[in-house]
Amino acid sequence: MTAMGKYGLNLLSNIHDSIDDLKSAGFINIGGDILSASEVRQLRDLSGELLLQFEQETRTATAPTDFKRTGVGEGAWALTRLSQHHPAISQTIDKVVSDKNVKTILKSILGTNYKIWEISLRRSSPGDTGLYLHQDALGQINLVILLTDNLAGDGATSFLPKSHLVAKTAKSLRVEAPPVLLNFMRGLLKPFTGRAGDIGFFFNRTWHGRFSNQSTKSHDVILIAFFPSGATFGFGGSYLEPSQKYLSEIKGTELSRLLDPGYGTELVADKLYKVASDGGNTEAPFSLQIADPVGHNLKTAGWRAYVVILLLRIIMPLGRIARRGMASNRVDTK
Ligand SMILES: [Fe+2]
Repeated sequence: MTAMGKYGLNLLSNIHDSIDDLKSAGFINIGGDILSASEVRQLRDLSGELLLQFEQETRTATAPTDFKRTGVGEGAWALTRLSQHHPAISQTIDKVVSDKNVKTILKSILGTNYKIWEISLRRSSPGDTGLYLHQDALGQINLVILLTDNLAGDGATSFLPKSHLVAKTAKSLRVEAPPVLLNFMRGLLKPFTGRAGDIGFFFNRTWHGRFSNQSTKSHDVILIAFFPSGATFGFGGSYLEPSQKYLSEIKGTELSRLLDPGYGTELVADKLYKVASDGGNTEAPFSLQIADPVGHNLKTAGWRAYVVILLLRIIMPLGRIARRGMASNRVDTK
């Protein structure tokens, strides 16, 4: 049992309850029964070494690199295409995505032809100020592997429970709260907490950000981003396709089937892939249905989510007015 309360049930024994909880809350921690303690330790050590190595190499690099210092918030770093940088990491991640229960969960929310877009390591260091409240791409879900014990939620991805069932987006409502406000609202959001080795899932449609890291420790997580049957994903900018050399090295594995963008997809534009549909009379995958919860007769988000949204609708304009006031004062004193 993890520290996530009703959303942190270790339910590998009852996978269908886990799926129901995920569909209801928008995120879930299913516990740490998939990887052994030594596999988790190896994953953490190798990932940490790679992060440092890439950080040093990036200082003198002239070409695009998989090390990211920006775009993930202040005090946080990321290493993209993680699995292709070390065979042991690749093997362990293959074990996770080949797990029977993990596959059952993925199929139930993504359909049968789901693909992996990206695998990254994210480190939140002490003093990390966090990341603003946001949503990501249509249909996307993330599988999370915690690499450190994090029961307090420092530097953890944090969610507004059930907000994936809100028809409007945080962006359209202009309530993408900055990290400072997110941290002020800690009691209203739920961080992804747990022990090293815990595995979980969240819909990227669930309103989420990252709490600041007020601890003295770094917290590392692996994030595996999936797209469902019928969805579109692309590469470019700081997200590069897996190398052909790596794909040929892992040929025949479940991870290869999921990572190879040329398999089970249709190229619809330069570096833009559409995942094969499940076909027939099958309904759209749940991760796509939540973009239109009313049209698909899904449960409503519940009053708690709407109260938080109402609060943000009141507070956010006040912040904008205050910032404008401060800016005009600065002009006045020139
Ligand atoms: Fe996100």
